[in-house]
Amino acid sequence: MRKALALTLAAAMALSLAACGGTTSSESTAASGGTSEAAASSEATEATDDTTAEAGTVANKDKPLIWFNRQPSNSTTGELDQAALSFNDNTYYVGFDANQGAELQGQMVADYIAAHADVIDRNGDGVIGYVLAIGDIGHNDSIARTRGVRSALGTAVEGDNGIVSDPVGTNTDGTATAVQDGTIEAGGQTFTVRELASQEMKNSAGATWDAATAGNAINTWAASFGDEIDIVVSNNDGMGMSMFNGWSQANGVPTFGYDANADAVAAIANGYGGTISQHADVQAYLTLRLIRNALDGVDINTGISTPDDAGNVLSEDVYYYDEEARSYYALNVAVTADNYTEFTDSTKTYAPVSNQLDATAHPEKSVWLDIYNAADNFLSATYQPLLENYDDLLNLNVEYIGGDGQTEANITNRLSNPSAYDAFAINMVKTDNAASYTSLLSQ
Ligand code: BGC
Repeated sequence: MRKALALTLAAAMALSLAACGGTTSSESTAASGGTSEAAASSEATEATDDTTAEAGTVANKDKPLIWFNRQPSNSTTGELDQAALSFNDNTYYVGFDANQGAELQGQMVADYIAAHADVIDRNGDGVIGYVLAIGDIGHNDSIARTRGVRSALGTAVEGDNGIVSDPVGTNTDGTATAVQDGTIEAGGQTFTVRELASQEMKNSAGATWDAATAGNAINTWAASFGDEIDIVVSNNDGMGMSMFNGWSQANGVPTFGYDANADAVAAIANGYGGTISQHADVQAYLTLRLIRNALDGVDINTGISTPDDAGNVLSEDVYYYDEEARSYYALNVAVTADNYTEFTDSTKTYAPVSNQLDATAHPEKSVWLDIYNAADNFLSATYQPLLENYDDLLNLNVEYIGGDGQTEANITNRLSNPSAYDAFAINMVKTDNAASYTSLLSQ
């Protein structure tokens, strides 16, 4: 897996260099007898799956469990936590293809350089300097994006586990070992590309992907080497917008993020360089749709690869399923000045899966769902509003729990009565911590 990533990124790097040479709780609780509801529904539909419990009592350990956004995995090695991913027959992960998105992000920055070769080097020193905001050094999405950017810009170095994704701190003299100086041919010139600085954006309380920390970092960096910064890159839009609003917009420095949050897409009109849509509209649907299907006792891909009775269906150009990892991955799309007007409403449901399910055939069920950090820009501004739109369409009564982004216990303490719910959707604080949840469901 790691090898494959390194190879893909190496290929992306070669390609991009060649290219450059040319140029919190909204619906609360009412968590009533989940088990008997499940039994009723299994009779009402042509249920075949015994998860929906003929006997009227489903053990918590047998209820549908969807991990989303933070894939159960070892935060040091990236190895998937297969025990968590196959906790029961109705356990899946929903996320997006982190490597494909990371390549797109790196390519988007490289393309921008190629198209703006005449103005990109602000101080004319022949070095295109960029700074990088890293979200969470142990989160596979964040690691992939750091690698994708370094790979496309020629600054990546290979380590024992593929491309090194560690932060460099500051590297204005180009001596850091986690990166190297790259070279890009653009507009008939050869530029050196240097990662001037990068750091994990973690606040003192421990919350990662922290936008305020990124805002402070850009001010510190700008104060000591601002004229050398030609590009700002961020592992997400929350941090990217904080840096854009705090410094780069006023200084005309293109800033790139990830997530296609509405405020970031709108900022493209004002000089934000671009972002990547991780198709949150497809992920939010999958998160709740898999639960709906499992509780209805129908084929798990109903309304996904095959149309449901309301006509909902997804096509293969927006997602794929990896059976071994029990993971559904949405595909990413680059959002730049060329196409951003199509992405301005980030909370709109995806049209092919926006049909209301019939409440008789698909009666209401109750779902417990948490967001690891209620202050996370992407999850609170984009993902949760989408979930709230889909829960109505899918007749699910979802209780949304917002964590503090720091401690798992802040969330697990609020799962004191799992028997009151028919299903669970979980977004962990740390990708290593799946057992904190599965142990509660196994009691
Ligand atoms: C998003 C980030 C977000 C993180 C939370 C990532 O996929 O891109 O914006 O902070 O998920 O886990």
